[in-house]
Amino acid sequence: MASTTQARFPCLAMVRYAMAAAVTLLAIAVIALVINAVLRSEDVRLSVNNGFIGADAGERRHQPAATQVTLKKAKATKLHVILIAKNPGGRTKIDCNDTTVSLFDLQPPYGLIGELELGNFTVPPQTAITLQKPLKDANASYIWDNYPGEVRFSVMVQVNANVTSFPLGKKTQTVAQSYTCQPVTVGLMDNEWIYASDQVDCRAHADDRMHGASS
Ligand SMILES: *[C@@H]1O[C@H](CO)[C@@H](O)[C@H](O)[C@H]1NC(C)=O
Ligand SMILES: *[C@@H]1O[C@H](CO)[C@@H](O)[C@H](O)[C@H]1NC(C)=O
Ligand SMILES: *[C@@H]1O[C@H](CO)[C@@H](O)[C@H](O)[C@H]1NC(C)=O
Ligand SMILES: *[C@@H]1O[C@H](CO)[C@@H](O)[C@H](O)[C@H]1NC(C)=O
Repeated sequence: MASTTQARFPCLAMVRYAMAAAVTLLAIAVIALVINAVLRSEDVRLSVNNGFIGADAGERRHQPAATQVTLKKAKATKLHVILIAKNPGGRTKIDCNDTTVSLFDLQPPYGLIGELELGNFTVPPQTAITLQKPLKDANASYIWDNYPGEVRFSVMVQVNANVTSFPLGKKTQTVAQSYTCQPVTVGLMDNEWIYASDQVDCRAHADDRMHGASS
């Protein structure tokens, strides 16, 4: 009888020890998960306002009401790109630096229609900011060659940025992000009310420059 009791105690002690060790490991694992979640680079959400980019082709003539106004052959076509950058999280500001915006035709020959530099901007936590800048040197001859007499066409908007977040005030690694937003309509400024849609949300890819070369 005495021998069984003696045998049971060391066994119980081992079980307790093992359980304590398991609980400790579990606690460490949970802490690691929490730290990881907090330090994970939080992403900014981008969208194209109204899914629409207004084209403004130089001089404007007043047309009779019945005449349909189309995209015109022009030396310079100015495109009004309006992006919304949202940081829904409450934990960190997000730096988007060296930001560029490129517009690609969504139909053959899938050409690059224009590029725009948005530079550096910061999105504070739980904030949405509007970024707008005219794209002045859109390839007017490309538009004219491929969409003569059209009032609109569809593009893919690609945004590249070096994104950094600062959870707990600690700077995370900068990630070169590429966002694609499609389909976005390019049309005459005056037609925005006809063709505007909901915001077109952009999808993030970690440095996946899909249309980097448009050949
Ligand atoms: C981003 O740009 C801002 C302003 O130009 C600068 O203060 C900040 O340090 C930059 N962030 C990173 C991570 O380089
Ligand atoms: C933008 O941020 C980059 C670092 O990502 C920095 O080298 C550059 O000087 C900044 N530009 C301006 C105008 O602050
Ligand atoms: C504009 O597009 C035309 C094709 O329509 C192309 O030949 C030309 O090289 C492009 N220009 C620029 C500056 O990209
Ligand atoms: C930031 O972006 C620019 C252009 O988008 C690129 O040339 C540069 O190498 C990037 N820097 C980092 C630290 O990713």
